[in-house]
Amino acid sequence: MKVGVLTGGGDCPGLNAVIRAVTLALQQHGAAVWGIEQGFRGLLEGRGRELHPADVAGILAEGGTILGTDNRCDPFAMRSDAGGEPADRSAQALGQARDWGLDALVAIGGDGSMAIAHRFHEAGLPVVGVPKTIDNDLALTDRTFGFDSAVAVVAEALDRLATTARSHRRVMLCETMGRYAGWIALEGGLAGAADAILLPERPYEVAAVAAFCAAREARGLSTLICIAEGAHAAGEGLAVRARLPGSPDPLRLGGAAERLQQALQPQLASEVRSAVLGHTQRGGTPTAYDRVLATRFGVAAAELVRQRRFGRMVALQGDACGDVALADVAGRSRNVPEGHALLHAAQALGLCLG
Ligand code: F6P
Repeated sequence: MKVGVLTGGGDCPGLNAVIRAVTLALQQHGAAVWGIEQGFRGLLEGRGRELHPADVAGILAEGGTILGTDNRCDPFAMRSDAGGEPADRSAQALGQARDWGLDALVAIGGDGSMAIAHRFHEAGLPVVGVPKTIDNDLALTDRTFGFDSAVAVVAEALDRLATTARSHRRVMLCETMGRYAGWIALEGGLAGAADAILLPERPYEVAAVAAFCAAREARGLSTLICIAEGAHAAGEGLAVRARLPGSPDPLRLGGAAERLQQALQPQLASEVRSAVLGHTQRGGTPTAYDRVLATRFGVAAAELVRQRRFGRMVALQGDACGDVALADVAGRSRNVPEGHALLHAAQALGLCLG
């Protein structure tokens, strides 16, 4: 058997751990593993190489992906640099998979990659999906690897921002990633003892946040606010840094903290400052939890391939590693639901949630 493996979408800590696990687990059973470079772009353009156990030695703890990735390539809707209507070049990618002699493909990626993987599966390429994203927003899996590592970065950043905020009695905003889901801000904010946590799922009232900060100011306290990049005031749109027409992810978010900083400053005596964590949340070595989860996912994906159970995505269900239909994941996402236990914990501590 010859099995392709690719990493699509934004990178995240733990991708190499999956590549390693898939390679080692399949190689145990005599299968050849073919690493496809730069995600679905490599499948389209014919860029790949065989992966041997020696190629994956020492990569478990390495951030990023040894295969490279691409979060702007959808072979079913390719745009040329000159613009114009997107072209479906999936037949070319399927031809490439045939030329390589691939019997199956393991696609590691987020929601966009899972949607593409599902379409390839429907077009006749046997696919198994592995969910990754620091955002933790994939449907039907309780966790994605990469999330724990991102939360650890946020917690450490908040620890650092807290001491400088306290020293100056400032209001300090910390902007996290997460796109349209607030998981990173919620868990990171709790782990880093934020005083306020603002999520995309709960539009905030500027007046309520200002009153919260003012009350703390009156007690001589600084205020640490953890704000998701997708958070916004009620009646206000998302803070968009750039528009990327034709991209599977057409909005680049950013600026939520700065926007709130500007709204708060006139209402407070203390200085209001902001920091954006950006890609520091995606880079670097995975936490031990993510190394283990990614390894479990890789082993489970290899198992699905061996059992020829295609069109499935590996998923964490409670403590168990199970699988779900790619069809049920494609085009869906998972947000922080109203009444979630962590929201309740934050409220019980008296945190401001907007
Ligand atoms: O989906 C993961 C993610 O890190 C989001 O949280 C963020 O909005 C986006 O990717 C950033 O992507 P890029 O690297 O293209 O700026």
